[in-house]
Amino acid sequence: MVRHLLSLFDLTAVEVESLMKRSAELKAMQKAGKRHRPLEGKTLGMVFEKSSTRTRVSFEVGMFQLGGHALNLTTQASQLGRGETYEDTSRVLSRYVDCIMMRTFEQTRIERMAAGASVPVINGLSDLLHPCQVLTDIFTVIENRGSVRDQIISYVGDGNNMANTWIQAAILLGFELRLACPEGYTPAALILDKVKSGGHKNIRVTRDAKEAVEGCDAINTDTWISMGQEGSGEDAKHKLFAPYQVNAKLLSYAKKDAIVLHCLPAHRGDEITDEVMDGPHSRVFDEAENRLHVQKAILEMYMHS
Ligand code: CP
Ligand code: NVA
Repeated sequence: MVRHLLSLFDLTAVEVESLMKRSAELKAMQKAGKRHRPLEGKTLGMVFEKSSTRTRVSFEVGMFQLGGHALNLTTQASQLGRGETYEDTSRVLSRYVDCIMMRTFEQTRIERMAAGASVPVINGLSDLLHPCQVLTDIFTVIENRGSVRDQIISYVGDGNNMANTWIQAAILLGFELRLACPEGYTPAALILDKVKSGGHKNIRVTRDAKEAVEGCDAINTDTWISMGQEGSGEDAKHKLFAPYQVNAKLLSYAKKDAIVLHCLPAHRGDEITDEVMDGPHSRVFDEAENRLHVQKAILEMYMHS
């Protein structure tokens, strides 16, 4: 059976822990200028149905550093744009490449890609989830604070793919997660149902941003307008989301040494102020760098046999 990474629930807590350890080793090796090329002769196929800077570059550079190769496919430049099915596409890609990474819209598209594939499929973001990013964020928390399990993590803003994935992470690892989202923009019902049915008391959703960040160790935020949502009632959304801006005042309610994370790209002045993003608590650029190290650990786990 081929293993995929479509959601964090495809991993066990023990596997997440070993990925975190391996990411730290790979980061140290790279900083020391040590060569490590376990994926020589292997190729990653990257399928992008949405734009990307970090995911595209970190996966491609990561494959290069591991001794392999990555190729970039988009909807427009491939036959996906002419309606070739996801199942047929991944069935064909599996004859050429050793792993597929896909960024897309509905989660069902990536599930269909996985259904046709005989090589691992990795979710590089869907409307529902962004597992590689949250694994990186957990790594960044551990890097700064020693661990994640005993930390209070808050997420402030839109109940989007990042919020959904943070909830999955908290279910898996058991840390305290407090989310503050405006009415109508809470995380996906199927994710919240899991919290309820599993009795996961470590996860709380509130409307109050201050309540969510009070005494927390890390504040996360993300854009109020995700890819695919552009142009739909943005003015009204800005008004509704204003109390959820991560600014100096909101940050003052967190622990004195709390860190601030944002998966980027940011809309500076909307969900986060320049002052916070460029300030001493911000780890957003380390977080962006860490995509490379964490994904190298993921690629090694999924592609090195
Ligand atoms: N955070 C993230 O996934 O960035 P990109 O959209 O640039 O890949
Ligand atoms: N929630 C954002 C994340 C971008 C990395 C989006 O889906 O556009």
